[in-house]
Amino acid sequence: MIDLAKYAALALVMAGCLSLLITQLRTGVPAMSSSRKEALQVVALLKAAGLAEDAVIYELGSGWGAMASVLAESFPQARIRGFELSPLPYWISRLRLRRHPHIRLMRQDFFRADLTDADAVVSYLMIRPMPKLGLLLDRDLKPGTPVVSLAFWFRDRQPEAVGRAGTAALYRWPARADTTQLEETARVEETGRA
Ligand SMILES: C[S@@+](CC[C@H](N)C(=O)[O-])C[C@H]1O[C@@H](n2cnc3c(N)ncnc32)[C@H](O)[C@@H]1O
Repeated sequence: MIDLAKYAALALVMAGCLSLLITQLRTGVPAMSSSRKEALQVVALLKAAGLAEDAVIYELGSGWGAMASVLAESFPQARIRGFELSPLPYWISRLRLRRHPHIRLMRQDFFRADLTDADAVVSYLMIRPMPKLGLLLDRDLKPGTPVVSLAFWFRDRQPEAVGRAGTAALYRWPARADTTQLEETARVEETGRA
């Protein structure tokens, strides 16, 4: 009987690890939590953006719930909506954050979500999904919506501000970078004429 319980527990742990690996292969993003210090950097940038108290904040890839809990603590009236694909972090974060009335977590691919009612978006992802994420935000966000990305930045967009530790960036979507200067430099290099 004890052996059976041990094997069942082992099978559960292995299934959990396997699901983490499979989701990471699918998304290109590991289920790694932000530290409290990093999450507070995201909060500081959102505060600088002047969010309304009852703002709708989407967290794209909510993982184990580390950032969502800091967001809820810092913006107690905000409606926080997190998407997470990986089953283990999703269920653990649901359990962990079950007492937060303003947090709603969904086990869903955020690329299939409708973000049109977002007042702000936060994410902590990896290089691979960033270009596609930019297109999703172009499709759904109202002009001027604050977007804060931790660690991985949008290469073709211009941040409005950078967190004190230098790891998070705030964009006012669509935040298109002014490419005139880059184009001019390329032209001069190509033709040799200023
Ligand atoms: C680096 S973790 C960050 C977790 C959390 N935001 C935090 O700061 O603690 C990124 C999470 O995004 C999830 N993720 C990546 N792509 C996703 C997608 N397309 N839809 C939903 N979740 C996704 C991953 O499974 C992972 O748990």
